[in-house]
Amino acid sequence: MQYIILDTETDFDGWRTAARTLVLGHVQPTDVTWTVQGGEADLFAPPAPSPILEVNEGTFSVSGKFVDLAKSAILHRDPERFAILYRLLWRLRDNHDLIEVATDSDVGQVTAMARAVHRDEHKMHAFVRFREIGRERSAHYVAWFEPEHHIVELAAPFFAKRFADMPWSILTPDLCAHWDGHALSFTPGVSKSEAPGEDRLEETWRSYYASIFNPARLKVKAMQTEMPKKYWRNLPEASIIKPLIEDAERMTGAMIANAATDPHKPQRRPEAPMIRRPATNDLDALREEAAHCRACPLYKDATQTVFGEGPDNATIMLVGEQPGDKEDLAGHPFVGPAGQMLDRALAEAGVNREKVYVTNAVKHFKFVPRGKIRLHQKPATPEIKACRQWYEREVSAIQPELIVAMGATAAQSVFGKITPVGKTRGRLIDLPDGRKALVTVHPSYLLRLPDPEAKALEYQRFVEDLKIAAAMQRKASRAA
Ligand code: URA
Repeated sequence: MQYIILDTETDFDGWRTAARTLVLGHVQPTDVTWTVQGGEADLFAPPAPSPILEVNEGTFSVSGKFVDLAKSAILHRDPERFAILYRLLWRLRDNHDLIEVATDSDVGQVTAMARAVHRDEHKMHAFVRFREIGRERSAHYVAWFEPEHHIVELAAPFFAKRFADMPWSILTPDLCAHWDGHALSFTPGVSKSEAPGEDRLEETWRSYYASIFNPARLKVKAMQTEMPKKYWRNLPEASIIKPLIEDAERMTGAMIANAATDPHKPQRRPEAPMIRRPATNDLDALREEAAHCRACPLYKDATQTVFGEGPDNATIMLVGEQPGDKEDLAGHPFVGPAGQMLDRALAEAGVNREKVYVTNAVKHFKFVPRGKIRLHQKPATPEIKACRQWYEREVSAIQPELIVAMGATAAQSVFGKITPVGKTRGRLIDLPDGRKALVTVHPSYLLRLPDPEAKALEYQRFVEDLKIAAAMQRKASRAA
């Protein structure tokens, strides 16, 4: 009997090396026991693995199809998978076409395992929910997930791409994946007690789910197949699924009664009244009040109001256009690609980002859905005007010395009228209330420039503009 001990549950290279040597050494599948270092079956293995056979001659090859299937199937949780794969490999030596025989029991088992692994990978992509640890610039996002198979390494690159600009960790009982904004790393699994509990992002997920829930399209069975109940315990939105289903009939009735709906328009959430509170300039109270803003229709499709952030005594206030897709989900301004570009330029210009208040002219994400993507739409003048009250009240609360308007929408809000960027950029302009304004381009404009040379040049101009802000910030901190 040959005892093979693999390094980890997902050690495909170790399995391949051992399997190849065993096949060339003519070792029958029934004469091999496969275990994983430290795994349960390892308890019954001999203290040392069998020495790998010395095989100096002979070659054989297998199809790419088998290799692809084996790479996936090896991530299945069935402890027999290594042996099944070896048995199939052994049989493929003399019959290359066997891999095409779907009715063969080994081929069928391996194919089913590979499929189950990919299904689990897709479920992980769909059902990981991050919770925020820390706030704002020191925020870290942590999720707890219980995969059915050993898929963490397989699924992690998806999250690195999707959430490239936020540091996150996905904790699982098998393995934990971490992203620091640059590289993925993995550490051993942990228990659920180490995962964070409720946070304010829960509410965001719930309102996001409620906003995309279409009662007229409700098919409970199909929904439960897509979102099996076993995942519910880790989904913040799970608590509202039952009430939404129960309310679906009434909501559908109301939609029909309201009639004349355009089927091509996204489903709207029912109108909720705007909560009016006594006017205040306290930033936290303002933020809370803005969370219920209904001054224009944009709140209906956006996930949440994305209010400004930063110290309430900031000398510099940066104004962007509106939150993008990432900001809408995260609830913070400038956390997406434009935010990364902005951070880099601020650092290069010598602006202390921690001391800057960052906000947007429009506080809800405006978009049109295109399949699964939400395409950014430029805010229209009525939306900019409706949202200006929040900008004005942020200015009153913070009393900044300098307001930097990034792009045309921000300039329109800051000056209260359409203001061309090209004619005004790069110099201090007096505002009627005695503050200074500085107009520059929006970082998204730089991201969109296709020509690398133009991009580099425009980026430098952007940094030069921000240096004006840096000088004012330095002067203010010397005076303080
Ligand atoms: N663009 C903006 O104008 N604001 C954001 O918060 C993000 C992208």
